[in-house]
Amino acid sequence: MRKNLNKDTGGFSRRDFIKASAVLAAAGLGANRLYAAGSDKIRVGLIGCGGRGNGALGNHLAACKHIGKDVEVVATADWFKGRAEGAGKRHGVPAERCFAGANGYKQLLATDIDVVVIATSPNFRPVHFEAAIKAGKHVFMEKPVAVDPPGGRRVIAAGELAKEKGLGVVAGTQRRHQRGYRRQAFEIENGAKGKVTGGRVSWCGGALWYQRQKEGESDADYMVRNWVSFTGMSGDHIVEQHVHNLDVASWFIGRPPVSALGFGGRARRKTGDQFDFHSIDFDWGQGVNIHSMCRQINGTEGGVWENFVYSGSDKKVDVPDFEEHGGAYVQEHVDLLNSILAGKPLNEARNVAEATLTAIMGRIATYTGRKIKWADLTKNKNSQWYNFTLKPTAEDFEKGPVTAPEDEIAAIPGKD
Ligand SMILES: NC(=O)c1ccc[n+]([C@@H]2O[C@H](COP(=O)([O-])OP(=O)(O)OC[C@H]3O[C@@H](n4cnc5c(N)ncnc54)[C@H](O)[C@@H]3O)[C@@H](O)[C@H]2O)c1
Repeated sequence: MRKNLNKDTGGFSRRDFIKASAVLAAAGLGANRLYAAGSDKIRVGLIGCGGRGNGALGNHLAACKHIGKDVEVVATADWFKGRAEGAGKRHGVPAERCFAGANGYKQLLATDIDVVVIATSPNFRPVHFEAAIKAGKHVFMEKPVAVDPPGGRRVIAAGELAKEKGLGVVAGTQRRHQRGYRRQAFEIENGAKGKVTGGRVSWCGGALWYQRQKEGESDADYMVRNWVSFTGMSGDHIVEQHVHNLDVASWFIGRPPVSALGFGGRARRKTGDQFDFHSIDFDWGQGVNIHSMCRQINGTEGGVWENFVYSGSDKKVDVPDFEEHGGAYVQEHVDLLNSILAGKPLNEARNVAEATLTAIMGRIATYTGRKIKWADLTKNKNSQWYNFTLKPTAEDFEKGPVTAPEDEIAAIPGKD
């Protein structure tokens, strides 16, 4: 018989919730609560009111409705005032709680929200995520979560703090909340397929949008608007998009990779400093290699997928019929909220940070033409990559004017 592991909390009432909170408080886990004191509504804020931010907020509201909880959008924050107010207006947020600029996220985190949805460009994620956890908020954050090794490690550290504080953290990697993937992961974890012995992963498609700098526009505004063109803002498309597929590889193999060696280049892009394509051999250790490819060039063969080869097994397992309400985009929020209400908050910070670091390792390999080791990003403090930081940093944006890298100058492999 199939079990549904992921049913909503159903009749979990406010009284039950208060009882659970009291137990948690007695156990020293007072921060593990969903509602602000004295409120019957989940109070949510949004940092990054662009396409995905507005989408993710809608998904959060749909998830609240699905599990039968009232919700209020309390505050919004965006680099651009108009975007913060636009999102705010759609949800009845007064203009004084629509915050703007590089420091607007701090004002939003000072409000009494319970949950924050974070969907800016990835370069700001480590700073915003760490601040959200320090402020005691549950977090839904979009992938990827960093653009360089120190950023990835900062997210892992903030994720550990979230565990200590009993806060829930879910990332927008989607596949970990998608029924088909979860069924396959369940089979692997329970021995029905054997181990992954090799595979290939792909995110290939056409060119993304880009923006030109306007007359008189600051470099900061230009970079924020045109973030998908700059490695320092997006991590490059290997990090920004292909992170989904690399995350599945780590999940199914059960550990992060050991090293990356590959090549890539830039042929068609119009702005920024990213590559158009990457092809990488990831060594996942224990004799497992995964070929990863990603490309953004119009008129070329596309494909988004993960294929794995397994050692095989005769074991039959009873695979649960995992819930997927409203697709993975909504289910991510359902799982976050249910986990908090059940007193066992999900914490996906390490998973998404390691998937992001995997993609960053691949990018450094293709930009330099050298073999790059996982330990050089995560453990070996003497490595040139351990503290390798892309500029301008998120803190630079907060301090004042920044200078954008010159458009159309990209890395040249073999040239240090
Ligand atoms: N999981 C998915 O399927 C999926 C899909 C699309 C995008 N994404 C991710 O979502 C994130 C946002 O992507 P998008 O397509 O919405 O981009 P977008 O450009 O439409 O929106 C980003 C918004 O963040 C704002 N912003 C940037 N820096 C900020 C700062 N420091 N403080 C406050 N606001 C700031 C921008 O002004 C903009 O409104 C990215 O990390 C992207 O990779 C995920």
